[in-house]
Formats: sequence, C-alpha cells, structure tokens
Amino acid sequence: SAGGEKYRPAFHFSPKAHWMNDPNGMVYYNGVYHLFFQYHPGGTTWGPMHWGHATSRDLFTWEEKPIALYPDSLGTIFSGSAVIDKDNTAGFGKNAMVAIFTHHNQKIEEAKTGLHQYQSIAYSKDEGETWTKYKGNPVLPNPGITDFRDPKVMWFEQGKKWIMTLATKDRITFYSSPDLKAWKRESDFGASLGAHGGVWECPDLFSLKSNGKTVWVLLVSINPGGPNGGSATQYFTGSFDGNKFVPNSTQQKWVDYGADDYAGVTWSNTGDRKIFLGWMNNWQYANQVPTKTWRGATTIARELSLESAGNEYYLRSMPVREISPLLKSVYKVTNVSIGKELDLSSHIKPLNGKFKIDLSLAKSEKVDIVFENRDGEQLIIGYDEKNNNFFIDRTRSGDTSFEKGFAKKHIAQRISKSKNLKFSIIFDEASVELFSDNGLTVMTDIFFSHSFWDTLKIRTSSDIKLSDISVWTIDLKKRGR
Ligand code: FRU
Repeated sequence: SAGGEKYRPAFHFSPKAHWMNDPNGMVYYNGVYHLFFQYHPGGTTWGPMHWGHATSRDLFTWEEKPIALYPDSLGTIFSGSAVIDKDNTAGFGKNAMVAIFTHHNQKIEEAKTGLHQYQSIAYSKDEGETWTKYKGNPVLPNPGITDFRDPKVMWFEQGKKWIMTLATKDRITFYSSPDLKAWKRESDFGASLGAHGGVWECPDLFSLKSNGKTVWVLLVSINPGGPNGGSATQYFTGSFDGNKFVPNSTQQKWVDYGADDYAGVTWSNTGDRKIFLGWMNNWQYANQVPTKTWRGATTIARELSLESAGNEYYLRSMPVREISPLLKSVYKVTNVSIGKELDLSSHIKPLNGKFKIDLSLAKSEKVDIVFENRDGEQLIIGYDEKNNNFFIDRTRSGDTSFEKGFAKKHIAQRISKSKNLKFSIIFDEASVELFSDNGLTVMTDIFFSHSFWDTLKIRTSSDIKLSDISVWTIDLKKRGR
C-alpha cells in the first residue's frame, strides 16, 4: 500500500476517508452484523459527531454504507447502541431497529450549565439503511450530570423490560423502560470500585454462562487511567437482578492490557454468543497517528467467554470462529527442539504484514518473539517469567515521533497458571493483537513501521521444546471480495 492508503488494514474495519472513534449501535439482524461508529465526515481529526455505518456477514469483510445519523437541532450524535424491537414495544413496528444514543449539544456546553448530554432514539424499518429520529427526543433528559452518555441497551427477559447502562461521570447508572421511551432510574454502581484515573465511558452489561451458572459482566471504558497509559476498558463480574449490579470481586481487571482497544462493547441480538470489538486506538494520540486520508479502525471481532479460577471470574477473548475459513496455513511444526533461537523469517517474508502465528511452548525464563524489517525497526512480543508478564515492545517499531508516549513497552500481568505458554498473534498492516493463554490475557497495539516485518526470530533463555507453531496467511479473497 502506498500514498494515502499507507497503513490501511485489510480485514479490520476502517472508514474509506476521515475520522472514526468508538464502535456504536452494534446489532445483528438477518445474517448481517451492523457496525455504526463515531464518525467525523468533515476531517481526519475528531469533530462534530455522526454515526457512520458498515455491514459484514463474516465480521472480517466490511462494506461501508451511507452515514446513518446526522447532527440535528438537539446536538451531534455521540456513542450509543442499537436493538431489534421484536415485540414492537416502542410502536415503531415489529422488528424495528432502534438506536439509542447521546445527543451532545454544543450551545448548551458553551453555556456551561453541564446539561449538554442527554439520550435520544431513532428507528429504522429497512435494516439500518434509513433512519427516523423520534419526535419525543430526548427520551432521557440530563438530570444535572456533566458526563451523561453512551447508553447501552439490552432486553432483560426476567423482568420483561429494557435496561439502559449509562456512563455517568465516575459511575454507571442503570435505567429501565417498557418501551425505550420512558426511562426510570434503577440504581448506580462503581463510584468507589474499579479504576478511576479518568471519566467512565461506553459501558456494556451482559450475561455469560460459566459452568451452567449465569454471571453478569459489566464493561467500563475509562479515559485516561488505562494499565499502560491513556484509555482502556476495565470489567466487573457479578449479579444483576434488573435493579442492581452487585460485584463479586474487587480485583482490578482489564478486557485488553494493550494500548489500543477502547470503547469496545458487544453486539446485540446474537443469542448466546457475545461478540466484542473496540476502537483500535487511544485518546492519548488518536488525533496524531500518521495515517493520511483516514484515522481510526476497529479491533477484530472477539468472542467472549468466562473462565473461573477460585472465586474469580476472568474474561476470555478469542478471535471469532469466522476467521477460520480465511486462514491458509503456510507453515506448521509440532514437537521441535528449538534450542535458544528459531528463525522463521522465510515463512513470514512473503506475507506482507498480514498473518497469524500460533505458538505454544513450555514456560521458560524468557521468550522473545522478535519481528524486524529492512528499515532496522523492531517489534517484540514476549513473556518474562521473573515478573510473570506478557509484553509488547513497540519502542523501535517505526514512526513513533507523533506523540512522546507512543514509543513504549506495554506489559500485562499473566493470569493463567498453566506451565505452557500459548500465544496467538494477528498482524494486519499496522496493528498487532495478542491473545495469550487462549485469550485470558489480551494485548492490542498499533504501530507504524516503514516496511513489513520480514524477519521473525523466536528466542528463549533456555533450550526448550516448541510443542506447536503454525503460521497462516489471512486471505479475504476466499470470501469473494
Ligand atoms: C469515548 C467517547 C464517548 C463519547 C464519544 C464522542 O471514546 O468519549 O464517551 O460518546 O467518544 O465521540
């Protein structure tokens, strides 16, 4: 890729032109995954927000659609969610797609009353192609809270009502409604729990099964205050009864320990599957990253599940299974003694920066998975037993000049206690996603190298045996693109 398209990912969504941030309104309907997103069609930096729109059938091949929601007299269109109203509770029609979003009113903001954010709805009867804003907007006026935004709505079957999970400055407030129009405050959560290095944003509440038991998961993005600086997404596990969320742990946990996964939430209307993706960026430098014609992309879609360990529940995120038909094996060995270094350069060289590597090996003191290019740049992914950390080091990964905190080594405490290490690593042009220990510790980082990684060396501190290594290309053409 050259010129204005340099750094464009192939199988991650990015807008053809201009700025994007948070994924919004993620809803599955009639075989199609809808992805709306915070979009500024007037430039490549953040500005007056619209909802852009893209669709996919396989979560990897994306088609960008016309803008779905434009600013109006109530404000610009901030983040929110979408649901399918199967029972026509709102009266817009059976199976109407209903978007619930924050209106952000700049005039009120300038008046400094703090009342500039409130929740509104819009509906579509043609699968997200065209939208009508509800005449009674806003449906949830501002009660006097400066940061009052990012509604995530779900149907709560036990109580036969809609639940809205809303970010309200330093906490989450839950609201309920029979019809998506009249909202009643239920409770709030979190003012004295979790990370508070920044304002709370973009929450999500959903349940997962763990050994037959229903566990509720609450995702909360914060900016700043992430584990490796800037913005990141934490989560809580607990119970929810339609009124209150009660946490079952006080341990601090993060959906993704890397620098570049923010404001991620899950798709609605996917049955028992919980599919997540985030904005693959960080507010610390999002407006400065060196792409030319657009800025921003999403992470790949990840399926969430729970792992229990003692009294704790941990989120597992793995690439969705829809990736399988796109993978073409280029190299595979099992049970090989690698000594202290294994050189796999000849296998990744032809792959032009788009590939997946799966690696499992016995735990050794140190494992460095070192990627280099002909420009002398380097990215290292690894595990350090002394500190029990996974890491991604992008200190010398290419162009890092646009922001002083970008060139950095990011670390994540290991959660798994297994004697075997597992890495699953996905590269797509200018991003790397690391799913270690089958998704128990996840790290996502972007980088801007001047050429593709064409050498790969795996270095360990002791002579060890690799149980498994596979290299795959990710080939979208197989899906007729
Ligand atoms: C999170 C966020 C949201 C807000 C949106 C504005 O990245 O700050 O809280 O709705 O971006 O674009």
